[in-house]
Amino acid sequence: MPDPLGIRIAGTGRALPEKVVPNQWFVDRLDTTDDWIRERTGILERRVASDGESTATLATQAARKALADAKLTPADIDLIIVSTITPECQFPSTACFVQQALGGPPVPAFDVAAACSGFIYGLILSSYLLQNSPYRNILLIGAETMSRITDYEDRSTCILFGDGAAATILSAVSDANGPALLHHCMQAEGSGLSMLAVPAGGSRLPASKMTLDERLHYVKMQGREVYKLAVKRNLELIDTTLAEAGVKPDDIALVIPHQSNLRIIESARQRLGLPQDRVFTNIQRYGNTSAASIPIGLDECRESGRIKPGDLVLLVAFGAGLTWGSALIRV
Ligand code: UT7
Repeated sequence: MPDPLGIRIAGTGRALPEKVVPNQWFVDRLDTTDDWIRERTGILERRVASDGESTATLATQAARKALADAKLTPADIDLIIVSTITPECQFPSTACFVQQALGGPPVPAFDVAAACSGFIYGLILSSYLLQNSPYRNILLIGAETMSRITDYEDRSTCILFGDGAAATILSAVSDANGPALLHHCMQAEGSGLSMLAVPAGGSRLPASKMTLDERLHYVKMQGREVYKLAVKRNLELIDTTLAEAGVKPDDIALVIPHQSNLRIIESARQRLGLPQDRVFTNIQRYGNTSAASIPIGLDECRESGRIKPGDLVLLVAFGAGLTWGSALIRV
C-alpha cells in the first residue's frame, strides 16, 4: 500500500448549464421511451450548454466558486489542471483558457485526457506534486461539454450524456494524521480503445467530407461491452482498495462513483453491502458528465454536509481508453 499523501480539499465549486433537457425531449424525437431511459440508466434529465457556454466557461465559473470557497485568489494557485475530453479546442489546452479567464499570474497549466477517469487521474497526479514540489495549491477541474460530441440521432448514446464542470482546490498538508490520499489506483488498457471513442477529428482521421457524412466526430460506444467491463472493473477496484488499505466497507463514510449508469453504481453498492445513503448518485439530474461527474458529486456532498472532516471517501471511475481509477481519501 502506498504511503498516505497529505492533501486537503481546500475548496470546491460547480457550474451546471441552466438548460435542462428531460427524457421527454428524446421521446419527442427518437424511437425511445422515458421508461426505457429511466430503467436502463437511471437518468431523468441532464444539463446542456447553450450558445456562448463552453468547457472553458463552465470550468472558469466552477474555479471562481472553488476559489471563493477556499478563500483564495488566482494569485494563490500554483498549477491549473483541467481533466476533459471535450476541450475548448484541439490546442491550446483548456487549462490555458482558464488561466487567462481567471487573470492570475503565469502558472503551469495543462489538460488531462482520461475520459471518465480524468478527475481521479488528476487527483493522484496533484497529490504527488503537492508532496514533491514547491506547489502548495493546485486548481484541479473536471469539465465537459459532452453535448458537443454527442450524436443526437443515436438513441443508444445521446440519452446518456450531459454537460457540467466542477473545480477543487487541493492544498499540501504535512500532518501525518490529517486529510490525505490514503490509497489510489489508475490504469489504462488500450486494447479496448475502440469500444468508446470519437473516431475522427484527430491525427488518425482528420476532418473531411467523409468523416462529416459518416458522423465520425461524435461519440461511438459499444454500450453493452463497456457496461460489462465497467461493472467488473468497479468491483475489482473496490475489492483491491479495501484489501490493500485495510478498511472495511463500514469504515467508508461515502462512495462517490463516476455517474455512468445507475445499474453499474448499484452493483458496486451491493458488493460493498452498503445502504443507499452511503453511495452518492446524481446521475438522475445530470446524466453522465464524464470527468466532471465525481467533482460535481464532491462539491454537492461538501455543500450538503454529507461528507465531514475526517470522513473516509472512496472515489471510483471507469471510462474510455479504457481507463479506470480509484482514490480513497480522508477529507
Ligand atoms: O462513462 C463511461 C462508461 N460508460 C458506461 O459505462 C456506459 C455503459 N453502457 C450502458 O450504460 C448501457 O449499455 C446502455 C445504457 C448504453 C444501454 O443499455 P443496455 O441495457 O446495455 O442495452 P443494449 O445496448 O443491450 O440494448 C438493448 C436494446 C437494443 O434493442 P434490441 O437489439 O434488443 O432490439 C437496443 O437497440 O435496447 C435498444 N436501445 C434502446 N431502446 C430504447 C438502445 N438504446 C435505446 C433507447 N431507447 N434509447
